Amino acid sequence: MSAFLVEGGRRLSGAVAVHGAKNSVLPILAATLLSGGRSVIHNCPRLSDVDASLAILEHLGCRTSREGDTVTVDSGPMDRYDVPDALMREMRSSVIFLGAILARTGQASLSRPGGCELGPRPIDLHLAALRAMGARVEERGGDLLCGAGAGLTGCTITLAIASVGATENAMLAACGCGGTTTILNAAREPEILDLQRFLRAMGARVEGAGTSTVVVEGRRPLHDCEHRVMADRIVAATYLAAGAAAGGEVLVTGIDGRQLSTVTAVLREAGCRLHSEGDFISLRRDGVLRGVRPIRTAPYPGFPTDAQPPVMAALCAGEGTTVLVETIFENRFRHASELARMGADIRVEGRVAVVCGVPRLHGAPVEAADLRGGAALLVAALGAEGESRITGLRHIDRGYDRVEEALTALGASVDRVE
Ligand code: EPZ
Repeated sequence: MSAFLVEGGRRLSGAVAVHGAKNSVLPILAATLLSGGRSVIHNCPRLSDVDASLAILEHLGCRTSREGDTVTVDSGPMDRYDVPDALMREMRSSVIFLGAILARTGQASLSRPGGCELGPRPIDLHLAALRAMGARVEERGGDLLCGAGAGLTGCTITLAIASVGATENAMLAACGCGGTTTILNAAREPEILDLQRFLRAMGARVEGAGTSTVVVEGRRPLHDCEHRVMADRIVAATYLAAGAAAGGEVLVTGIDGRQLSTVTAVLREAGCRLHSEGDFISLRRDGVLRGVRPIRTAPYPGFPTDAQPPVMAALCAGEGTTVLVETIFENRFRHASELARMGADIRVEGRVAVVCGVPRLHGAPVEAADLRGGAALLVAALGAEGESRITGLRHIDRGYDRVEEALTALGASVDRVE
C-alpha cells in the first residue's frame, strides 16, 4: 500500500503553480460528447478522476489521447449510450455524463451512482431536470434507463438546491433540447462559468453561468473546439492552508484570488498575511495562528465545503477556538478523528465541529477516508512535530496532481513510498 511519509516542522518557502480544476474538467469531458467532433483540452490535470472519465468516453466509443497537459477527445465514433456499473463505481460524479449522452443519442443507461464517503449523494434534482425536458427516466434494479422519446424540449427548470452537478447536467442536456432552457437557482461556482466557456467554444448558445439563471438555446450546430481549463481553486486553498500550518511564505500562482476570498479572509483573520493580485496569492505566517469567527460552508460565493477540511487542519495548532458548520454534506468531518490522532482537540456534533487550538500537533500514522479529508491530513502533517505516515492515497490522487512534488518544491519533506 502506498503512503506519504511526511517529516513535519519545516517552514515552507517558494512558489507553486496551481494545476487545472478537477471540478471543471470532469463536466467538460462529459460535454465533449455533444459535438461528435474533436475537443482539445489544455491544462488537464493528471488525476484518477480524469482517467476514470476518459475510460467512460472510450467505453462509449470515443477516441482519447493525452500529450502532457493536453487531452484530445474525438467523440465522432461514439456508438454506445451505457455506462456500466464498474465504471460508475470508479467515480460517483459520473452521473454528469447522463445529460450529455441523452442529448447526443436520445437515450442513456447508467447504474445509479452509489453514495460516497461524504454521505448519500442523491441525484433527484438531476433526474427532475431531465424529466422536465421530456426525458423518460426509469429506475430498474439499480440502473437508470433514460429515453428522450421524440426528443427533449427546452423549458424552465427551478432547482430546489443550487446543485453544481444538477446545474451542469441540465446545461448539457439543454444543448440537445429544441428551444430554450432556463435554469433558475443555478449553482454559481466558477467551474460552471468554465463549462459555459467550453460549450461556447463548441458553438453552443449558453449565457448566465456564474449567476443563478443560466439560459441555453438548444440544438445549435456544434463543432471541434479547443479550451484551457481554469485553475483549481480548492488545490490553491490547500496550498495556502499548508503555508498556514507549516509557517513560512508561499506564493500560489495561476489563480484568481477573487475566487477564494472567503478562504483568504479566514486565513487572514487567523493571523496570516495575505496578498492577492492578478493571478497570484501570497501567504506568510510567522506568529501563532488564532481561532476565527464561525466558518459556515455554503454554495459559491460562500465558504467552499471542499476547503473546509484543509482549513480545519491548519487551525488545529494555534490559540483559540473555531466553530465549523458543514451545511452541504452530512458526513464531512471524518478527518477530525485522524487529526485527533495527531493531537488535535476537535469535538464533532453532527454538522458542527469545534476546534480548540493546541500548541503543536505531533506526527502519527493516519489514513485518508476521502479526497479533501486526505488533503487535511497532509496539511496537518506539514506543521506537526515529527514523522507522519498517510495512507489512503487513492483518495488524494483523485483530486491532487503529484501533490508531493509541489510540496517538496516548497521545502516540505513529503515522500511517496510503497
Ligand atoms: C460538486 O459536487 C463537486 N464535485 C464537489 O466537490 C463539491 O463539494 C460540491 O459540488 C459542492 O460544491 C464535482 O464538481 C465533481 P452538489 P456535487 O450537487 O455536484 C444535494 C470534491 O471534493 N443534492 O452541489 O455532487 C447534495 O446531497 C467534491 O472535489 C441533492 O439533494 O454537489 C448536497 O447536499 C466533493 N440532490 C448539495 O445538494 C441532487 O440531485 C450540494 O451538492 C443533487 C445534490
